[in-house]
Amino acid sequence: MITSNKHYQIIIIGAGASGLFCALHAAKRGKKVLLLDHQTQAGKKLSISGGKRCNFTNLDISPEHYLSQNKHFCISALKRFSPIDCVKFFQSLSINYVEKQKGQLFCDSSAQKLTESLLAECEKHQVTTLLNCKLTAINKNAYFNVQTSLGEFSSTALVIASGGLSYPNLGASNFGYKIAEQFGLQIINTHPALVPLKFNAHDTEYFKALAGTACKVSIKLKETTFYDNLLFTHIGLSGPAILQISSYWQPKNKLTINLLPSINLYDHLCQAKTQKPKVMLKTILAELLPNRLAQLIGQQQNNLPLQQYSNNALKKIAEQLQNWQLTPIGTRDYSAAEVTAGGVDTNELSSKTFETKRVTNLYFIGEVIDVTGQLGGYNLQWAWSSAYCCSLAIQ
Ligand code: FDA
Repeated sequence: MITSNKHYQIIIIGAGASGLFCALHAAKRGKKVLLLDHQTQAGKKLSISGGKRCNFTNLDISPEHYLSQNKHFCISALKRFSPIDCVKFFQSLSINYVEKQKGQLFCDSSAQKLTESLLAECEKHQVTTLLNCKLTAINKNAYFNVQTSLGEFSSTALVIASGGLSYPNLGASNFGYKIAEQFGLQIINTHPALVPLKFNAHDTEYFKALAGTACKVSIKLKETTFYDNLLFTHIGLSGPAILQISSYWQPKNKLTINLLPSINLYDHLCQAKTQKPKVMLKTILAELLPNRLAQLIGQQQNNLPLQQYSNNALKKIAEQLQNWQLTPIGTRDYSAAEVTAGGVDTNELSSKTFETKRVTNLYFIGEVIDVTGQLGGYNLQWAWSSAYCCSLAIQ
């Protein structure tokens, strides 16, 4: 049984990416740190991140890679603990990287190893970690008083690192937002982000026929465009291009998809018609698109030899494939969303220390804040940067 009323300089709630990182760096500075989590295992999400290889940062980083009501909020922390600092830090723990597309850095070993290394470092620097610890109440008088299923603890500083609502099966909860509300902080409405999109029954039926097919597309919503893979699934659309645009999507917004972003399809079809007039439409399309998609589009267009299509008809076909307008009916829920957009309003926090402006010694870090990264290592970099800056600030 844990002794009650233990006092710490810092209590951190949430032993995920940001909580572990903050605990470790604060403890390295000699602070007495208690790290609490309601799960039986620390860093559950981190351990499966990036397809179990953990895309832990991205070398190409700028505020444009983040969504927030305040675009500038993330700048200071990302500068003070940059992707290069992150690489150096993990290399010091013998975690090296493999660079995938667009500067995305993944562990050369496994996400599990990265999590275990952080935990081992926490232990080495005498962080007290309590798992399977259910929080029942938090109050503030001279100190923060934290009541839990494992006893009562007090601290001078309290750090909320409890993440967003995504993947509740890995321990996500609304805890951080509830604490923010308790202390009178504003919350920006949350919604699932980096999440597959859902469509009406007619569109879904079409996608079902193509389930498992992927192709490189450009996808546009108002001023925002991504070039990446789109995946047809039996319940809608997914893949990196869709996940990226989903963070920007709002109900009734229309998406414009170009299935062949690197060519002018009309010119290509006209040229093919001149050079190979007897070749069937689907054969030409199959040179450019995955076979099943080419077959389906060919069928819809009566699949004739190219010479039987007027240039106007070819223009319409090209237009359909390069300016495909689709309106999702929604996103999938938090159980399928990689992150949660929205959260604690950045106006409530110092961008240097992550302390709340209203409550002295109360800090929020990581995904619980209204800062949401794009796909590609940006969310973990945010977790590290915010945690690091917070750890330096706590006296
Ligand atoms: P995080 O969710 O990591 O940790 C929160 C902790 O708080 C958890 O341990 C939870 O149990 C605990 N907690 C919650 N409620 C509590 C309560 N009431 N009491 C006590 N404890 C509580 N990003 C990226 O950059 N690269 C990647 O490769 C991936 N891959 C990826 C895959 C999958 C499947 C998901 C779902 C997400 C990703 N992400 C990602 C996103 C990234 O994992 C995420 O943004 C960070 O883990 C957020 O770190 P936090 O510390 O803020 O929350």
